[in-house]
Order: sequence, then structure tokens, then C-alpha cells
Amino acid sequence: MAKLQMKPMLLGVALLAVACMSIVALILSLANYQRVEVPYSTQYGIVFDAGSTHTALFLYQWPGNKENNTGVVSQNLMCDVKGDGISSYVTNPAGAGESLRECLDVALAAVPKKKQKTTPVYLGATAGMRLLSLQNQTQANIIIAEVSKFIQSYPFDFRGATIISGTEEGAYGWITINYLLEDFIKTYRICCCKLKC
Ligand SMILES: *[C@@H]1O[C@H](CO)[C@@H](O)[C@H](O)[C@H]1NC(C)=O
Ligand SMILES: *[C@@H]1O[C@H](CO)[C@@H](O)[C@H](O)[C@H]1NC(C)=O
Repeated sequence: MAKLQMKPMLLGVALLAVACMSIVALILSLANYQRVEVPYSTQYGIVFDAGSTHTALFLYQWPGNKENNTGVVSQNLMCDVKGDGISSYVTNPAGAGESLRECLDVALAAVPKKKQKTTPVYLGATAGMRLLSLQNQTQANIIIAEVSKFIQSYPFDFRGATIISGTEEGAYGWITINYLLEDFIKTYRICCCKLKC
């Protein structure tokens, strides 16, 4: 009798031991996973340079989570938006947003799915939009609203579309990239496409 009762007890102990070992293994593998994943997690950022005659998308990437966020930001890809600058869409403001589709799709394909939500997107408009806003502020606002709405239909982290001033434009790449990445990589030294570094 006693022997028969021992068996289920032993089985219970054995099961408990297996369960404990599984949990320990799981914790170890999670810890290991994080140790591997965190230091090399690449971050991405997108900038639209909306000029007078045409718009271009720039995708940047940098190694995230490194010590003190020191590392190199590199341009991953550039995409030329077909057609004229966004300020030319006065009679068809929705078309300004739509014109960005092809390049946004290219960026979407280039950024890993799990990084899309944390990828900031910023649009900086220059001379063409500046001139339009002087001629008719309403029209300029409508175009900005349309491109904003369109970019927001993508899973990225939309940070804003603004008309930047003439003085800012001189150092455009530097300013917008820093603005874009400010929260992420304050201490990065950034060399942008438009500057001779
Ligand atoms: C990171 O910052 C700390 C404190 O500011 C400093 O002691 C350390 O040397 C820095 N590490 C690197 C790799 O720059
Ligand atoms: C500015 O544009 C809006 C929208 O197209 C139009 O209704 C308005 O009359 C324009 N204003 C001027 C001063 O041209």
C-alpha cells in the first residue's frame, strides 16, 4: 500500500522539478536574448526634403542602445518623389500627399516591421512652400495638412511637417536631422548628405 502511494508522490516531485528547470531555462534564454538583442538594435529615421521643384526621402539608420549612444548615423537610402514640389499641388492638395506614396512604400519595405512604430518621420518644406505661404497662407496650410495626413496613414512615428525658414535652409540637412533624431541620439555626431563633413 505504502509503495503504491509513493509512486504518485515521486511523479509529482519529478514534474515539479521539470517545471522549475523549464522556468529557469526560459529565464536564462530571455536574459541571453536581451543581452544579444539590445546592443545591436538598429534605429531608423526618415526625413522628407520638400524643395521647390521636387521632394526627396532620406532614410537614416544608426546603432541604437550603444553606450552613451555614440555611433555613426548613415544614410540608408534616398528616394526621389516623382513629379513637382508639394507647393505645385495648390489645385489638388490631396495629390501632394499621394505623391509621397511610392517613396514611403520604399521606406516601409526597408525598415523592419518591428522598428516601424519607433521610426520618426519628419517633413521639412523649403522655398516653394515658403513662397506659397506668403501668397496664400490657407493654401499652404491645406497642403501641409494633406501631406501630414498621408504620412500618418503609415505605421511610422510622424513628428511633423513644417515650412522651415531661409536661414535654417542653409544648414538644412544638419538642422532637420538633429531635430528629427534629437530625442534618440543627442550625442551623435551627424554627417548629413547635404553638408561637407
Ligand atoms: C560614457 O559616459 C560616461 C559618463 O559620462 C563616461 O565615463 C564613459 O567614458 C562614456 N563612454 C564612452 C564609450 O564614451
Ligand atoms: C487662398 O486660397 C483659398 C483656397 O484655395 C481661397 O479660397 C482664397 O480665396 C485664397 N485667398 C487669396 C487672397 O487668394
